[in-house]
Amino acid sequence: MAADFDLFKVSEEHDLLREAVRSLCEEKILPFAADVDEHSRFPQEALDALVSSDLAAVHVAEQYGGQGADALATCIVIEEVARVCASSSLIPAVNKLGSMPVILSGSEELKQKYLTPLAAGSGMFSYCLSEPDAGSDAAGMKTRADRDGDDYVLNGVKRWITNAGVSEYYTVMAVTDPTARSKGISAFVVEKGDEGVTFGAPEKKLGIKGSPTREVYFDNVRIPADRMIGAEGTGFATAMRTLDHTRVTIAAQALGIAQGALDYASNYVKERKQFGKPIADFQGIQFMLADMAMKLTAARQLTYTAAAKSERGDSDLTYFGAAAKCFASDVAMEVTTDAVQLLGGYGYTKDYPLERMMRDAKITQIYEGTNQVQRVVMARQVLAGGLS
Ligand code: CAA
Repeated sequence: MAADFDLFKVSEEHDLLREAVRSLCEEKILPFAADVDEHSRFPQEALDALVSSDLAAVHVAEQYGGQGADALATCIVIEEVARVCASSSLIPAVNKLGSMPVILSGSEELKQKYLTPLAAGSGMFSYCLSEPDAGSDAAGMKTRADRDGDDYVLNGVKRWITNAGVSEYYTVMAVTDPTARSKGISAFVVEKGDEGVTFGAPEKKLGIKGSPTREVYFDNVRIPADRMIGAEGTGFATAMRTLDHTRVTIAAQALGIAQGALDYASNYVKERKQFGKPIADFQGIQFMLADMAMKLTAARQLTYTAAAKSERGDSDLTYFGAAAKCFASDVAMEVTTDAVQLLGGYGYTKDYPLERMMRDAKITQIYEGTNQVQRVVMARQVLAGGLS
């Protein structure tokens, strides 16, 4: 019986992509990462570098002017950007999150209208699901979209919206039938310039400080009915299907943050001398590095398996997307915390990048569904017998 070992190696094209993205990131994004964090400012240098290399929304299909990158290639781009600057990695990651509802369920007109500028780098996308009182319980949202002639009129508040204010386009999930819970939710594209759209003050966060997180307010925002994504009442399923794919990209972000921390710490321990020799010579240090690398490589295997499932649209993607995001984000938290430990007091200061990486890692356990919600999602698929 001939075994198919393709699962266990990444293609040469993917390896070449990683090499190219890594050198771009080291040259154009890394130099600004500390400043972006220190001043909680949007990484414009990263956006410019990613747009000019066609990497800001690599997932968009070629027919809309995009690169047509597969799910694994998109993960590799996000992973490499996150390795040097987690805030910047939210540019390609949230462009995929925001546009995925259009890709999965949108009409051809919507795809032409919105994916084309996204691919060209002239407009970013954000994703508006959460609300002040609807986080884990996403179907408990209150934002309304009421039909009025040929239009819908939106009213409500969305919270924790990544890249809000910077993005031109927003996929917004809103209630069209309040009696039907998740079946009464529909998805829409709203533009930043639509009358009645405004933004709250940027949240003051622990990490990913360069990626603005703001509330988005909809005050009688009137949009044409053809901005609805898919049929009325299908918005919640579209939002969940989107997350199945994009939890994989958050796993990739977590891998990148962890890899950046491991790379930095393993170089440091070879230079740092105590008791007359590099601390890398001590077995206590070696065991820590071995555990960090072991967890990271296991997380990468799971993430790339999930990426393959995302690309193929396998029926167990819901489980694998949740598992990859949950596992890789826990690994990122552990690896970055251990990396700070390996640098001792230096790791705890802003003179070194590790405390930033540790702060940035934390959000990957929270957004696109807390790791507790991921376990709910995984358990449901296990109990439904959807895994073999
Ligand atoms: N694919 C397709 N349909 C799905 C689905 C999926 N993955 N998951 C659920 N659905 C459908 C269900 O089939 C169901 O329809 P039926 O009744 O016809 O079967 C309907 O949607 C409702 O599903 P549930 O009964 O499972 O819904 P629930 O209310 O129990 O919620 C939940 C389930 C898993 C907890 C969900 O609410 C959830 O994932 N919560 C977390 C939300 C989240 O991840 N938020 C992150 C926001 S994005 C973010 O962080 C952004 C950022 O800016 C980076």
